[in-house]
Amino acid sequence: MNTYATVVLAAGKGTRMRSTLPKVLHPLAGMPLLAHVLNAIEAIPSTSSFAPYGTATTSYPPVVVLGYEAAQVKAAFADRCLYAIQQEQLGTGHAVLAAKPVVDELEPIPQTILVCYGDTPLISGEMLARVLAEHLARRAIITFLTARTLSPSDFGRVVRDAGGRIQAIVELKRATEEQKRINEVNSGVYCFDRAWLWTALSALPRNASGEYYLTDLVAIANSQNCEIATVTGTLEETIGINDRVQLASVEQLLRRRILERHMLAGVTIIDPAATYIDAGVSIGRDTVILPGTMLTGKTRIGAACRIGPGTTIDQSSIGDHCVVRNSALEETTLEDGVSIGPFSHCRPGAYLARNVRMGNFAEVKNSFVGTETDMHHFSYLGDATVGEHVNIGAGTITANYDGVRKNRTTIGDGASIGSDTMLVAPVTVGEGAKTGAGSVVIQDVPPGSVVVGVPAHILHTPQPNEVSTTENGKKE
Ligand code: UD1
Ligand code: CA
Repeated sequence: MNTYATVVLAAGKGTRMRSTLPKVLHPLAGMPLLAHVLNAIEAIPSTSSFAPYGTATTSYPPVVVLGYEAAQVKAAFADRCLYAIQQEQLGTGHAVLAAKPVVDELEPIPQTILVCYGDTPLISGEMLARVLAEHLARRAIITFLTARTLSPSDFGRVVRDAGGRIQAIVELKRATEEQKRINEVNSGVYCFDRAWLWTALSALPRNASGEYYLTDLVAIANSQNCEIATVTGTLEETIGINDRVQLASVEQLLRRRILERHMLAGVTIIDPAATYIDAGVSIGRDTVILPGTMLTGKTRIGAACRIGPGTTIDQSSIGDHCVVRNSALEETTLEDGVSIGPFSHCRPGAYLARNVRMGNFAEVKNSFVGTETDMHHFSYLGDATVGEHVNIGAGTITANYDGVRKNRTTIGDGASIGSDTMLVAPVTVGEGAKTGAGSVVIQDVPPGSVVVGVPAHILHTPQPNEVSTTENGKKE
């Protein structure tokens, strides 16, 4: 049985990014660059796909080589990976050698080392598997992934002899004019025979650029007449991100892929060029996404919703048949049939139950709002629990902060809060109670009673024969 371990190089600062954030932590479609590479590694199909060539299995977490801001990267990925440290960034060959102490600890000892770079986020599990399969089939010492392109830019060039036999990978910096015109480039995915790799790396000299290039191993293997195999993939899968221009163009490609996946699964996206959906978002059928919408983080949108225009929804769960127009939602839950906007804001902890209607210029934070409740205009609910069939009049505010503590407001089912009511928390408005326009409520309001004024006093107390009602009649 052939076992393989994966080594991911991520020690570089990413100088060309001109950033204090390590390159592999730059977000791409809502996930750090490195997460995309780890996803691909974890998606390598299981043993059976290598069947004609024997089997290859891995039971090891990927070994990630870190250097610049290692602690920050470790914190982001925790025990999803094993980590090796490359103290000084002396090149990709030097980086792989830095992984040796960690790889040497793996049991059983892997025969094959799959190396990829942390800055090529479009690589897929199938492509990594193809390189592995070819490596096994050819019993090669090195197998690497190449791509053909008319604009080879800063990729290493793949040099072959007249018979097509691999001779070397030459980096752009050191390429001759003729080599610069070669249109087969190195994608940065390799399989190595482990024993050969460690021997060759420890003997690898510094090159003219003062670095130890992993790519120089190809010429060494060639001079030793070792078997070198290649797999040719698409350039798109192997674009490396070195600067923010490449980051933006990969983001665009990835975004397009994500949007197409949703459209093919039954989501209407009116203007894909003006719609931004992160990789971790799910959307139900027959939902329509209007222009200027950003759906980010782990957001779930139900079926038959209408989202946008001009809407951002982050880390939220939206039920079926919801409408959200020109609004911003964060860490919010909407049950089915909720309608929001235009121009409203749900902050973390907002939970709007079935058929809540939240109109314009309203804000809800850390509050539960019950079924069929209306808050149409200019209001703020913070740290509140609101019952069913409540009407929140225009301009209602929960004064939830007394300068020291956040206090709760509770509003019972069927209550009617008059326009411009100030609810000075902690305070409770009982079921079916009413507050008059402009009242400042500083004391609990008993169920069914009516309060008015500043501060609010009881105008009417329900008689024993008055039927308490939860349906509040017209709400406007
Ligand atoms: C590299 C290849 C090039 C290939 C291209 C594909 C080499 C010498 N060149 O060039 O042939 O076409 O990728 O994308 O390998 N890293 C370390 N430690 C170091 C240096 C780099 O961990 O000392 C890491 C970086 O963080 C990065 C990866 O290795 O994730 C690749 O390094 P980078 O400098 O981006 O190489 P390229 O110039 O893109
Ligand atoms: Ca690169």
